Amino acid sequence: MLADVLGPAGQRSLDEPGQWFSDVADDGTPLEFSLAFDHAKEPTLRLLTEAVGADPGKYANQLAALACLDSWRDRYHLSTERLDRVRDLFLPDDNQGLFSMWLSLVFRSSGLPRVKVYFDPEAQGPHRAGDLVAEGLRRMGLGAAYPTLLAHTGRPDRVGGDRFSFFALDLHEDSASRVKVYVSHRDGTADDAVLAARAVPGVDDDEVREFVAEIGGPGPFDSRPLISSYTFVDGDTDRPSGYSLYIPIRAYVADDAVARRRVGRLLDRYGYDASLLDAAIAVLTDRSLSSGSGLIAHVSLRFGAGVPGVTMYLSSEAYAVAPPRPDAEALVALSDGGGRRRVDA
Ligand code: TRP
Repeated sequence: MLADVLGPAGQRSLDEPGQWFSDVADDGTPLEFSLAFDHAKEPTLRLLTEAVGADPGKYANQLAALACLDSWRDRYHLSTERLDRVRDLFLPDDNQGLFSMWLSLVFRSSGLPRVKVYFDPEAQGPHRAGDLVAEGLRRMGLGAAYPTLLAHTGRPDRVGGDRFSFFALDLHEDSASRVKVYVSHRDGTADDAVLAARAVPGVDDDEVREFVAEIGGPGPFDSRPLISSYTFVDGDTDRPSGYSLYIPIRAYVADDAVARRRVGRLLDRYGYDASLLDAAIAVLTDRSLSSGSGLIAHVSLRFGAGVPGVTMYLSSEAYAVAPPRPDAEALVALSDGGGRRRVDA
């Protein structure tokens, strides 16, 4: 599947620069791994990818992604019926977003891989993002949920402040297919996350705050944004049934050794086995964790009903390793000890 996604780019040596700088990962690689713990027997492995066309560009990549879906449809029992419902919204020929379409490939220890598509709500320009999300939800039978989202975010239908960053659909045939809407909290705080989380019943404010402090530190989160996602499943109408918060940990630590320590504490707290994370990291790289930053790119926590799920997003670092960023540690996390405080003006 990965060879399908990478297309001709997959044949080239990593010494040759990529012809398409993908926003999937910081070094432009059109690929990011994630490892999701949810108290199933085995963690789930996922690959977030951008299909790369022979002559890459947003439109060429869109065609390449659609061609992948076509070729996988029968083998993996995909249905593009829901994608087709929103295609004209999110896939204009002259896409003005950062990307046209990303694919997430989800592998469990058994069963067929699952596929999810991501769209950029700014496909028709930033000023249209709210309209596209509202209409996309409406076409999924979730029109009544849009006001709920607006009431819990910093008005992402306006330009500036919060921003709709992704609209995503599961493409499998069964009814467990989800719709997800992501909101980036530019210059956000833990309070923004708490407000966003309250759109979903049963999320504990303190648990949200604790997660932000443990993984992100004290803030402010003015470099890369905190991101909220809302999950809708069959039967939802006017509000989402799931909430997850994504913290771009790499922007708020000096290096991956610090990130690994923070994630370790989180995994311990939720009863997950951190040695699986170490095993995954060992497969990806043999560099020391303190020699770079961004290998652990994001950490997310799923709140609310069901078991809390922790997901770690791991860069391939295929093209480049980002150097340590001691400046990021000027915002010293309380959780990293010493009781040091932010050193700002
Ligand atoms: N690289 C982009 C970012 O950091 C998109 C992205 C990749 C992302 N993986 C993610 C966003 C996981 C949120 C969570 O924003």
